[in-house]
Amino acid sequence: MKDEISPFVFGNLVNLYSFTNREEDLKRLKKNLIHGINTIIISPRRWGKSSLVEKAIQEINTENPNYKTVKIDLFSINSEEAFLESFAREVIKASSTKWEHWIEESRQIFKNLIPKISIGIQPDSDFSLSFEWKELKKNSQEILNLPELLAEKNGVKFIICIDEFQNLAHFHDFESLEKKMRSVWQKQKKTVYCLYGSKRHMMVDIFNNSSKPFYKFGDLFLLQKIKKEKWVSFIKEKFAETGKKISEKFAQKIPEMMKNHSWYVQQFSYYIWSETEKEVNETIFNNALNLLVSSNLPLFQERIEDLSVGQINLLKAIVKQEEQLSSKNTLQTYHLGTSASVSKNKNILLQKDIINEENKTQELLDPVFELWFKKVYFNENYV
Ligand SMILES: Nc1ncnc2c1ncn2[C@@H]1O[C@H](COP(=O)(O)OP(=O)(O)OP(=O)(O)O)[C@@H](O)[C@H]1O
Ligand SMILES: [Mg+2]
Repeated sequence: MKDEISPFVFGNLVNLYSFTNREEDLKRLKKNLIHGINTIIISPRRWGKSSLVEKAIQEINTENPNYKTVKIDLFSINSEEAFLESFAREVIKASSTKWEHWIEESRQIFKNLIPKISIGIQPDSDFSLSFEWKELKKNSQEILNLPELLAEKNGVKFIICIDEFQNLAHFHDFESLEKKMRSVWQKQKKTVYCLYGSKRHMMVDIFNNSSKPFYKFGDLFLLQKIKKEKWVSFIKEKFAETGKKISEKFAQKIPEMMKNHSWYVQQFSYYIWSETEKEVNETIFNNALNLLVSSNLPLFQERIEDLSVGQINLLKAIVKQEEQLSSKNTLQTYHLGTSASVSKNKNILLQKDIINEENKTQELLDPVFELWFKKVYFNENYV
């Protein structure tokens, strides 16, 4: 076996080496951020939000050194206090490459708040700020306005990217934080925000509800999947670059079966690629598919155990692409109960991110889960 690095990459860290085919999205995002248009990006998990933002930020950093870029991931942040502290820390860290400057800046910049600065053995990664909670709560505006203040002071601009933004809505007293953020941020001239997340219903509720503070905060961007033809050429190219062959048929089948889902196209391609010495054949393809399903099995079983019989039955109807879920015929065929229970169960499946609804049609969000589901409940083979 050759010890070659895989041309297909999937994982929690975004890898720009295998980034592909988002020219239009990238252009729109970069333009917005450079022209000071706040941008909100929504898409289901693993379609490529973080990768897109990362790519945009990286290009902006090389093209316009005057923009200071900040990335905050709210995935593991679970209180307002932690959010504000991490916001302050990341903004200050982005303002300079030297940790000595961070300390100096932290000492000078706050008016009402007194930060406790801590710095460890490795200053670059061990720098943090903390505040007295009561003071922080009272003066949170000061933190929220930090980038604008530093931008004016240092003659730069700030781009603040906040991943899994909808997590803020779980915090205690989110409404008051939400109002404060909106009122402070909308006045800023040298700071732009890119807010993104994967919980569509929550994101839409924050940004598209006319009675909420963040209504019309910026350009709302529903990120779509990468098109099949783009994936096909990407796959063929990557195989060719590493001296392996894949026929048109298999190169088409990968995104087709994965329904163009970014993560899964990469994962499936990787399994096929790593088993291929010279050229992809039927056996390699099928083994890779089995491996793909079995490596996700525990997750799928857990997902099913979490559902009621009514919800599983509804999934069956969706998998069979029934158009009228509440028609008498569908209700009877799939034992769905009343149309009220269909709508209740549908909302639960939406909230659990198991299905997506677009133009009144539902589909499963996870194409591999769908393959497995069809096998278990309808005895359909994967291919
Ligand atoms: N433009 C792209 N080109 C190639 N592969 C991509 C691209 N975008 C995403 N991917 C693949 O999909 C995976 C998931 O992408 P990413 O983490 O950016 O999605 P996400 O929408 O941020 O997901 P989550 O909601 O889980 O945070 C990546 O690891 C990569 O394998
Ligand atoms: Mg992400």
